[in-house]
Amino acid sequence: MNRKTVLSGMRPTGNIHLGNYFGALENWVGLQDKYNCYFFIADWHALTTGYADTSKIRDNTLQLMADYLACGLDPDRSVIFLQSDVKIHAEMHLLLSMITPLAWLERCPTYKDQIANMTDKDIMTYGFLGYPCLMSSDILIYKADYVPVGEDQVPHLEMTREIARRVNHLYHTDVFPEPAPLLTKAKVLPGTDGRKMSKSYGNTIAFSDTPQEVDAKVMSMITDPARIRKTDPGHPEICTVYSFHKIFSSDEVEEIGSMCREGRIGCVQCKRKLARKLADFHGPIHERRTELLSDTEKLTAIISEGSAKALINAEKTMKEIRRAIGIGLDDEL
Ligand code: TRP
Ligand code: SF4
Repeated sequence: MNRKTVLSGMRPTGNIHLGNYFGALENWVGLQDKYNCYFFIADWHALTTGYADTSKIRDNTLQLMADYLACGLDPDRSVIFLQSDVKIHAEMHLLLSMITPLAWLERCPTYKDQIANMTDKDIMTYGFLGYPCLMSSDILIYKADYVPVGEDQVPHLEMTREIARRVNHLYHTDVFPEPAPLLTKAKVLPGTDGRKMSKSYGNTIAFSDTPQEVDAKVMSMITDPARIRKTDPGHPEICTVYSFHKIFSSDEVEEIGSMCREGRIGCVQCKRKLARKLADFHGPIHERRTELLSDTEKLTAIISEGSAKALINAEKTMKEIRRAIGIGLDDEL
């Protein structure tokens, strides 16, 4: 079967929340049916901005892997691995760094943006400037055809295509296909305060939250301020609870909307309804991740197995690229 290859990764910066799930992970899970998939944890990328405090990287890596698996990434169908386990990515990064013009890196919009805005960390480093080059290595080493990413990562993918083209051109080869972004319409779920769900706003619902915490977060959500009594007509379209119902209560969202508009349901009752629906979704994933994290030896073994599989394919591309560039003496293809 000649399936196209998909690859994507996340940095181990914390626990996966529902925004990450509906923005990316849910989509990744579905891609496993149609593509040859690689999903990984970009722990080296975490160092590009977080090199000064590495105390949480290991724990975050295990947590993220538990989230990946609990949400439905399947090690039997996809190659799920840890970047720093597959050290040959570093060799690819080194080779690509040789041919990547400095100007491309310096004018990358994410670079300019972070240099201008990140005031709490010193990111004037070689490694941070090379972020897109490392990302290109992750992608090109598996000859990925498609990379599901958010809008923010599109410039990096554009650079990956340029780097692929430059290698192919310089060394008269066609080793690298040009990967395309896979932009899917993700479901948008606001944070508990109505803004974008983001760790930095403290408005997330994470899979690491206990069911009690999730309930409490639902009950504290902001609703339509025009509603004081149950009989006051409401405006569900401006209500965070309603945004959640759209995703979790698709069978009765219309009904909930009219009850709100006609003052036939109170906000507390409406939130209780949501809390039940959300628990049906969140509970099982929370339990699976808790179980996975209770046996870190087993979890680590799953990661190592995935990394070993990744290495086999990474080695193949590495041999081709060493030969194309003409570096090293020990390559028998
Ligand atoms: N830069 C990506 C992010 O921050 C993570 C990442 C690293 C990645 N290497 C990748 C994503 C390769 C897709 C493909 O979200
Ligand atoms: Fe929001 Fe529900 Fe209250 Fe309407 S009834 S304002 S949808 S919480």
